[in-house]
Amino acid sequence: MSTPHTHHALAAEAAALDLAWPRLVDPHALQVPEGTLYLDGNSLGPSSAAAAGAVRAALDRWAAVGVLGWSDGDAPWFHAAERTAARLAPLVGAEAGELVVAGTTTQLLHQLLATFYRPTAERFRIVIEQGAFPTDRHAVNSLLAARGQSPARAVAEVAPSAQGFLDIDEVAAAFRPDVQLAVLPGVVYTTGQRLPIARLDAAARRAGVRIVWDLSHSVGLVPHRLHDEVELAVFCTYKYLNGGPGSPAAAFVHRALLPIAPAHQGWWGQDKAAQFGMRELWAGASDAGALQLGTPSVLALAALEGALTLYQGVAMEDVEARAGMLTDFLCRASDALLAPWGVRVATPREPRGRGGHVALAHPDAPALSLALRQRRVIVDYRPPNLLRLAPAPLYTDAADVLAAVACLARILSSGGHAAFADPAARAAVT
Ligand SMILES: Cc1ncc(COP(=O)(O)O)c(C=O)c1O
Repeated sequence: MSTPHTHHALAAEAAALDLAWPRLVDPHALQVPEGTLYLDGNSLGPSSAAAAGAVRAALDRWAAVGVLGWSDGDAPWFHAAERTAARLAPLVGAEAGELVVAGTTTQLLHQLLATFYRPTAERFRIVIEQGAFPTDRHAVNSLLAARGQSPARAVAEVAPSAQGFLDIDEVAAAFRPDVQLAVLPGVVYTTGQRLPIARLDAAARRAGVRIVWDLSHSVGLVPHRLHDEVELAVFCTYKYLNGGPGSPAAAFVHRALLPIAPAHQGWWGQDKAAQFGMRELWAGASDAGALQLGTPSVLALAALEGALTLYQGVAMEDVEARAGMLTDFLCRASDALLAPWGVRVATPREPRGRGGHVALAHPDAPALSLALRQRRVIVDYRPPNLLRLAPAPLYTDAADVLAAVACLARILSSGGHAAFADPAARAAVT
């Protein structure tokens, strides 16, 4: 078992790391729930004064001018989605017109898949990783069903290795001549494995395969250069971008693929100048905005637009480096304090091989996640046996990481999680 000496050494190291790696944004800018160690920003990032202020301003505007908010003033709501996309574009390396902010990740994934799935008798399969985030798999399966294809025949699964990680060469080898599309994650939501998206996208293009990337777990963390790296992507904005619960999602379409004829058309996907002509014939926007369907939620866009101001002046390379420092320290603290209790780090050790969270495997993971939450250490659990801890680099320090790991060690040594062993107690875990 670990000794007080081990804990002392780690505490000294955490203090030194926090001196060497100051926060990248004003520590008061984000409103982490008071009295908590918040390590769940890979699920929902915290609120901020900027997001709350922007929502309040939108509500005030609604009260002041009602419907005229769509058209009048410096920032008419009619262009709110385009404004937010323009603010987001530099964070992900997208060029003007390549990004759309709308709806949910699932809806945009459906939109891209339905638009770009063009099967032939020879090329009809879709590659996806085994254990993909369920909504990605649901989207693929339902698309195939709608096109009269059986998922059993048309899905080509890539399985992780015995260590639980995807082998990059095996993923590339899955781009066979009968494959037309692939859906792959930037960072795997369970293990936290980060994939080399530029390398895989290039391999796919050489093989005549188009990848739709789900970058939900890497945006706001990894310095993406989407215009240089990929053709198509979707991502949510409520994790590391702190856009708010259910904040609008985004999709990237490379300029080379524009303009597009989306499979699903709605009046909001039209050219702005044509939209209120109220014509029957759809006059699509020439940029990625064509993927939009209906009226966006102005309040939700406001929260996201406000939250994005936090990234102003912050280099994504610095965000990535600080995430690497924190996740590395988390892995080592876990080795020292938790391995003796049977906890295994289930995330790649190589810094470029992981994203912003560390998965810790233990058979009692569900009960442990609840015991931690009861002690105001907010983490989550993913079946079958993973605790996910995300030391989000904008608002977490090495000292927080150590405090969370030490709390978990105390729970394990005291058996404090036994109270949560009953599955009924876990019914509402998110
Ligand atoms: C990889 C991934 N894709 C998609 C989603 C969610 O999609 P939606 O925003 O449509 O609910 C999540 C949510 O956690 C996710 O982790």
